[in-house]
Amino acid sequence: MKTIFSGIQPSGTITLGNYIGALSQFVELQDEYNCYFCIVDEHAITVPQDPVVLRKNIRSLAALYVAVGIDPEKATLFIQSEVPAHAQAAWMMQCISYIGELERMTQFKDKSAGKDAVSAALLTYPPLMVADILLYSADLVPVGEDQKQHLELTRDLAERFNKKYNDIFTIPEVRIPKVGARIMSLQDPTKKMSKSDPNQKGFISMLDDAKQIEKKIKSAVTDSDGIVKFDVGNKPGVSNLLSIYSIFSGKTVTELEAQYDGKGYGAFKGDLAQVVIEALTPIQSKYNELMESSELDDILDRGAEKARLVANKMLKKMENAMGLGRKRR
Ligand code: AQP
Repeated sequence: MKTIFSGIQPSGTITLGNYIGALSQFVELQDEYNCYFCIVDEHAITVPQDPVVLRKNIRSLAALYVAVGIDPEKATLFIQSEVPAHAQAAWMMQCISYIGELERMTQFKDKSAGKDAVSAALLTYPPLMVADILLYSADLVPVGEDQKQHLELTRDLAERFNKKYNDIFTIPEVRIPKVGARIMSLQDPTKKMSKSDPNQKGFISMLDDAKQIEKKIKSAVTDSDGIVKFDVGNKPGVSNLLSIYSIFSGKTVTELEAQYDGKGYGAFKGDLAQVVIEALTPIQSKYNELMESSELDDILDRGAEKARLVANKMLKKMENAMGLGRKRR
């Protein structure tokens, strides 16, 4: 059975973008692959986090993983910082990375732009992601489009290590969904939807209630021509809403364009809000049940234990390949 690794940062409550780009793929793939799904809290601290809020977000993300349909009996669900091999392996991957290639990462450029105090970890975050993936010998990494560049770096660094030291790493493939790989902000459809966007109206979180969802979709930026048509270049806002609608309703974009022909944006946005509310309501009920039970801690304990076994084996191979420490008998 082939292996999958993917992670999500607990840097806020996950959005429809994270769900469509990443989580929904995880659910789809969990029957066919040996899956490791991670709450990457060490990635989240590359930008300032309130410790109390971070702890809350970690637990909340774990509950959401399960609430959307990840089956902890099939997939290994765990918290990155509970498996120290990630940070240890990341150091080794940093040592074979070049500053120039890290500075070229779009996420680094976006997140550091215009800021005075940028953490060094924002630059060295990709080698940690590389370590996350390589520790589990992942064959496939399902992510949204924004992570494609980091996956290319993962492949480069794995090949570099294999060539220089020992051929121990599997070179992973990236899997990006055909529709919804890049869900855009509702307030600025040229920018991707992000859970840490300070403008709350830009994203729909998986835990937003019906009123908030309606309000955010109604105030989503569109254009003034009133025609429901998919045209990313000229109508990015409407095209983004059509993608979300298509994913949640199972209808094609062409079917939706025909359905709203001559009806204007009011009806379109109203119906879209209902479709999103209907999809999120059962997820939120399951989420609330999980947050009140002790089941979640058991799942995360079991996940960390299983992940540690696999990760520590690969870490040992990496140390042996690089000549760190003493060779153990
Ligand atoms: N807008 C998006 N559309 C589709 N997929 C997306 N992903 C993120 N945003 C979108 C995918 O979600 C997964 C988890 O992402 P992450 O939490 O590790 O970090 P991120 O990509 O930086 O996501 P955010 O929401 O923008 O987080 P913040 O605001 O903290 O930076 C990844 O597979 C990602 O591709």
